[in-house]
Amino acid sequence: MSGFPQLRLRRLRRSEALRSLIRETEVNVGDLIYPLFVVEGNKMKQEISSMPGLYRLSSDLLSGEVEEIASLGIPAIILFGIPQKKDEVGSSAYHPKGVVQQAIRAIKKATPELLVITDVCLCEYTSHGHCGVVVDGYVDNDKTLELLAKTALSHTEAGADMVAPSDMMDGRVKAIRQALDGNGFQNIPILAYAAKYASAFYGPFREAAESAPQFGDRRSYQMDPPNWREALREVEQDIAEGADIVMVKPALPYLDVIRKVRDTFNYPLAAYSVSGEYAMIKAAAQQNWLDERGVVLEMLTAIKRAGADIIISYYAKEAARWL
Ligand code: PBG
Repeated sequence: MSGFPQLRLRRLRRSEALRSLIRETEVNVGDLIYPLFVVEGNKMKQEISSMPGLYRLSSDLLSGEVEEIASLGIPAIILFGIPQKKDEVGSSAYHPKGVVQQAIRAIKKATPELLVITDVCLCEYTSHGHCGVVVDGYVDNDKTLELLAKTALSHTEAGADMVAPSDMMDGRVKAIRQALDGNGFQNIPILAYAAKYASAFYGPFREAAESAPQFGDRRSYQMDPPNWREALREVEQDIAEGADIVMVKPALPYLDVIRKVRDTFNYPLAAYSVSGEYAMIKAAAQQNWLDERGVVLEMLTAIKRAGADIIISYYAKEAARWL
């Protein structure tokens, strides 16, 4: 009894009921996080041209949006702010009345149960578009840490439930943990963008967030795409510094990295299916070149099969309806 014709793998594929019994991976709406872009001002609803179906909203328009997200059963959002004023040191990132701080208050008022996670980074707030303080053309690691910690603390004071540093400076998780603990926020978790690659798949996001670097690129701080062993070192380091959840980003082109991290660490693992992943599928679907629902659900399933527990996806709302 070791092979065909006794053995027939197709036996368990004959009906949906059988397939359902032996299914190994499932995507649940409770696994998803939806990204939201907020802008300053009133009654602003601007569609992002490279991400059809996604908008930049002003805080006064957020309540309807977050009520819809919560009613779909999506447990969390991640917030990105686009400020009116940018400067060399990203001051509006840690201003108590900054765009994200205002948005957090509006969201918490409308849907207190919806988890508000904030992306902690300076690139949307700096005039040069880099994720930290620039000294002689180089992003200075240690000078940036203090500003990131200030930003995370300011988000938390405004009511954020979790902070997610995405800058890729060394030591930022530790700096943020210390700032939160020193101010009575011991219970606020950190979701670390631990293995974040310098990826061309972020293009549409940079249009959405107006955060493209004005000179050079991000390769001196984000990871080099060919490396996976280094990703494990990044994750190890963030865990040692106090990360509660670790993340791999992007998702689809880095499924192998997700699998490696899952097999190496017993920490909750998130994957960020980024703007370029959304834009590719959306564009092809608009041409009727592929079945959008089928492709999206297959992609989300693949990300979970690779080992992610949590998926940040611009498709979260549509997926919630399809699941
Ligand atoms: C900010 C940040 C970026 C993304 C998330 N946080 C852009 C970048 O690093 O340039 C990308 C998200 C996406 O493409 O969907 N540092």
